[in-house]
Amino acid sequence: MLLHVPQVLTPDELRQARVILAQAPWGDGRMTAGSQSAVAKNNQQLPETCEATLQLQALVLPALQRHPLFFSAALPKAISPPLFNRYGGAANSFGNHVDSAVRYLRDGQGRVRTDVSCTLFLADPDEYEGGELTMEDTFGQQRVKLPAGDLILYPGHSVHRVEPVTRGQRLASYFWVQSMVRSAEQRRLLFDMDTHLMSLRSRLGEGDPAVIGLTGTYHNLLRMWLDC
Ligand code: NI
Repeated sequence: MLLHVPQVLTPDELRQARVILAQAPWGDGRMTAGSQSAVAKNNQQLPETCEATLQLQALVLPALQRHPLFFSAALPKAISPPLFNRYGGAANSFGNHVDSAVRYLRDGQGRVRTDVSCTLFLADPDEYEGGELTMEDTFGQQRVKLPAGDLILYPGHSVHRVEPVTRGQRLASYFWVQSMVRSAEQRRLLFDMDTHLMSLRSRLGEGDPAVIGLTGTYHNLLRMWLDC
């Protein structure tokens, strides 16, 4: 499922993030790429444990946790620590690749199965030319470029790339989610049901018998499909 999650960061959080990013110690993006990705990857990235990365993670992770649409769509069991990249100048693209199935956390702190890939845009579309996140899926090509503070959630198994940035700089955060519901198909059904339930709830109220019954069905499906 491809889903646009708007306004993950507030304008104030976005301003804080941009101040940190402007002074951050950028390095070669290939330092965290697998062997297939390393060939295609040509961008810049922040070291995984530098002060700037830790400060930025402290902005992004709570923002994800409080966002109902992100929760409903991803049903997160674990989120890999968000990382930060920059495309522009000579380091401006990331060719076709698939993300590794597993992200190993630093210092042996476990691993995250990459059910869902996420990109949180940190520069506005008018700040740079190019830089679309392009995915190949069964409907053909999807090209995504979102306002700063917005997030795109997409399947971890899709072939994707970042188009060359020909002007300005594209700043983003990226990370993966291991979902409580492993099957993308089941996750999609639950998301659709939750979306319609929210609409029913706002029209009929929490106490409506059909709303109570369907909420029960949602949780019973979730219980049946939970992978934890
Ligand atoms: Ni990728």
